[in-house]
Amino acid sequence: TDAIRPLIAGNWKMNGLKAQAAEFDAMLNGAADVAGKADLLVCPPATLIAAFAEKARGKKAAVGAQDCHPKVSGAHTGDIAAEMLTDAGATAIIVGHSERRADHGESDILVKQKAEAAWRAGVTAIVCIGETQAQRDAGQTLEILRGQLNLSLPDASTAANLIVAYEPVWAIGTGLTPTAKDVEQIHGFIRELLTSRFKDEGARMRILYGGSVKPSNAAELMAVKNVNGALVGGASLKAADFLAIAKGCP
Ligand code: G3P
Repeated sequence: TDAIRPLIAGNWKMNGLKAQAAEFDAMLNGAADVAGKADLLVCPPATLIAAFAEKARGKKAAVGAQDCHPKVSGAHTGDIAAEMLTDAGATAIIVGHSERRADHGESDILVKQKAEAAWRAGVTAIVCIGETQAQRDAGQTLEILRGQLNLSLPDASTAANLIVAYEPVWAIGTGLTPTAKDVEQIHGFIRELLTSRFKDEGARMRILYGGSVKPSNAAELMAVKNVNGALVGGASLKAADFLAIAKGCP
């Protein structure tokens, strides 16, 4: 199979006011430099998507969203439909992030519906999976990941419409990361499941690693087999760090 082009995706989480647009401008200015290494995607809070998408027009970076509601419209106060996000300029939507699974009790089934909503709006779904510290300590990591993949990924997933992000919950925002050997084992396991279920599409699907990725560890993590990029939280808020991570791609 051809090499899978890496994607470096930034998840700004609940960070960012209009004043941070300058940081995004700096990312856009550096984007052409790293275009040979990876695709870039920035997922700011929903309030900034339209303005960022406008700035990103014609540049080597895309803008995405962090969540969507499964329905197209209706009486759901405070929620945002996938169609509204794409209308604002989002070209991908993260679904099932562990913070949403934890803070909002999102189930695998709901995450699958959200992935399908992203497709309905015409964009790629980035489905997040990952075990907690307690599950890891109990030796349940692979079983948890298998369950999340089976239930959160729609049957019609392809390499174009779906990206898997493996984010061990204990590595998010903690500065801790699994060893390269652990990442290789887990990404290999995810690849096997994707290939057995989605055949060639599964073989070509991107599997991102997320959890305390920073410039100092990016090159080592991005060089691991079956790691096709990163989903970056904290370090995606600074243009210099975000671009340095992309430069670390093999
Ligand atoms: O979605 C990305 C994220 O959860 C990782 O966060 O801050 O550990 O890079 P961080």
